[in-house]
Amino acid sequence: MKIHEGHLAIDVPENVSVWDVDPYDPAILSNPADYYAELRAKGPFVYIPKYSVLACGRHQENKEVFSDWARFVSSRGVGLQDFKLEKPWRDPSIVLEVDPPEHTKNRKVIMRILSPKAMRGLKDDFRVAAERLIDALLDKGTFEAVEELAEAYPATVFPNAMGLRESDRRRLIDYGAMVFNALGPDNLLRRNAMAKAPEIVPWITERCRRENLKPTGFGATVYAAADAGDITEEEAGMLVRSLLSAGVDTTVTGLGSALWCLATNPDQFELLKSDLSLLRPAFEETLRYTSPVHSFCRTANIDTEVSGIKIEEGTKILCVLGAANLDEGQWPDANKFDISRKPVGHMALGAGVHGCVGQNLARAEAEAVFTAIVNKVGSIKLAGDAVWRPNNAIHALDRLPITFTRK
Ligand code: HEM
Repeated sequence: MKIHEGHLAIDVPENVSVWDVDPYDPAILSNPADYYAELRAKGPFVYIPKYSVLACGRHQENKEVFSDWARFVSSRGVGLQDFKLEKPWRDPSIVLEVDPPEHTKNRKVIMRILSPKAMRGLKDDFRVAAERLIDALLDKGTFEAVEELAEAYPATVFPNAMGLRESDRRRLIDYGAMVFNALGPDNLLRRNAMAKAPEIVPWITERCRRENLKPTGFGATVYAAADAGDITEEEAGMLVRSLLSAGVDTTVTGLGSALWCLATNPDQFELLKSDLSLLRPAFEETLRYTSPVHSFCRTANIDTEVSGIKIEEGTKILCVLGAANLDEGQWPDANKFDISRKPVGHMALGAGVHGCVGQNLARAEAEAVFTAIVNKVGSIKLAGDAVWRPNNAIHALDRLPITFTRK
């Protein structure tokens, strides 16, 4: 057996074209539109020799692979590494990187904590924090929106909601970036991110301990599940780690991208101001249009077939969610940002049993921020070039200079 980038090196399956592309090239990661389009055009799957993976870019195959946890498992890693063949850099997540039935039990605990009812309890805090932030940014007029809005907001409300006794915006964000870069190949992005591990990982591990969490907050509720005997004390720490891993970088990215969408589509901002009921669809459309999580993997756990293509056991499949979300076969005029579209079935939050368990929280944060914007801001303009930050799994802005004018 030959191992390549931590997983089984496979032969090219019949009827699959070979594409000599590097999906992790920083130029593609920064500006993926052409890569997405070509990937979809080449068929249901392509074979990428550089990483010996099958990649899928169309909606149909992404949906099928993501929805079938038994054939396409997460327990062998959702990045390029196959955990059956190589030890991962940290103990696997007990929710993201496990399969049912273990997954079902652990996910249930988080689902209770992040339920719509629990989110309603946070609504006032989220609204007050959003109004304060937007007022301060309106006073400034021109500002750096990644740092001062997209990062600043979740870095305020999320640690509070978690009940962290001590927080550090940079470390929380860098940890997220590390977790997501770790899903890619052994490239410079991964190596640079992992170089921060000795400093950040012990800090995060400490934050996950019961005594470092306030008696109210998501963290304490996770530990209450341990007290009730639903999970062990150790599993509680692991679930808190999952929330810290997945809850910051993704939301930062979603908020920054939503602002970018509105700044670059002023007609859509006007439409949103005229009809507040479009707030929720506008965020969903942002997720579809920009795909904060651009690619995640699955591993075929048996010999199987999708769309007539034979897939052998052990094959790593690169599911390019960003390409699926721009599939014209699924959404007419897919390359248009249109907030009146209801992009039901987009893949930005995944699909199937692993579909994002934090989506209610992400939506609650976005709703608070964009309600404050719609109520107070007259226009949103780019005050310079938007710059994207390459990451092996996240499509995020690095810089977004913005000018707000008052309503
Ligand atoms: C806009 C923001 C967000 C995006 C785009 C996003 C995206 C995703 C995606 C694509 C998945 C599926 C992964 C897979 O199937 O392998 C996922 C799962 C997950 N997300 Fe999110 N997420 C966001 C916000 C959050 C937040 C705020 C939290 C926590 C507070 C969170 C926690 C999780 C967890 C724990 C999982 C694993 C669920 C499971 O395996 O059952 N996410 N997310």
